[in-house]
Amino acid sequence: MAIKIEPLDGPVGAIVHGLDPSNPLSDEDFNSLQQAMLDHVAIVAPDLEENVPWLRDLGSRVGPLVPHVLDQYHHPETFEVSIIARNTGTPESRNTAKPAGAFWHSDLSYEENPSDAIFLYSTQIPSQGGDTLVANMCLAYDALSEATKRRIAGLTATHRWGWNTGGATPKLSEQQSATHPDVVHPVVRRHPNTGRKILYVNPGYVMKINELPGDESDGLLEELFAHALKPEFQYRHKWGLNMLLGLDNRSSMHAAVDDYSEPRRMLRMIVGCTEKIGKAA
Ligand code: OGA
Ligand code: MN
Repeated sequence: MAIKIEPLDGPVGAIVHGLDPSNPLSDEDFNSLQQAMLDHVAIVAPDLEENVPWLRDLGSRVGPLVPHVLDQYHHPETFEVSIIARNTGTPESRNTAKPAGAFWHSDLSYEENPSDAIFLYSTQIPSQGGDTLVANMCLAYDALSEATKRRIAGLTATHRWGWNTGGATPKLSEQQSATHPDVVHPVVRRHPNTGRKILYVNPGYVMKINELPGDESDGLLEELFAHALKPEFQYRHKWGLNMLLGLDNRSSMHAAVDDYSEPRRMLRMIVGCTEKIGKAA
């Protein structure tokens, strides 16, 4: 069965109709899905029966699935899936002051090889709240003034795990910390598939612009974040149960909304990086 892509009327997102986790995805369907992620930054597929091997197969066709640093939350069967749970009363439930991801970020930007894409799949959702916000960082770049585009061309930023995450990330163990030094990425990236320019900074992990004195760096980052977080670049994803959200993690940043107290549980797969962009700080 051929899938159908229905673009949302907004800056981010398309609904994918006709995915069926009881059958392998044909090459043709996989290609349309991947193209939809490039064209619309996020894809949403509702009402998918839970099938972890099928989800892993889908994720790994986009690119190699990589482990998240918080190995204590890896799925018991595979590092390719992490569990993001809250208020579930189970050992896998996170106990940070704020929910995981409740700050604007792009997954793994604090690694030398960050992530091309992520997939989140809901297995438990609160009756209200717990949305995920997504910002389109290609649109954000395009809408910058020409003066700002010239100012940021060629600049680089230092990214650090847990930098400005407001109590949403646990402290790393000594071993986890040892493999996660600060890294440097360009402030403007070019998307390898679409050729579009991306504003590649996020409030959660970016500490500073390396080429500027501290106060200028702080001022520029504040200006860039205020610009990028304008509502016109954003999509507010409302979860249904057994829903899949796929994000192009290069062209976007996202944030979990901290506004619920009922159980919420997601499976997450992180697609690694297929190009060389970062370096050690
Ligand atoms: C994360 C994250 C989003 C969500 O944990 O990195 O972005 O909606 N989570 O749970
Ligand atoms: Mn995230």
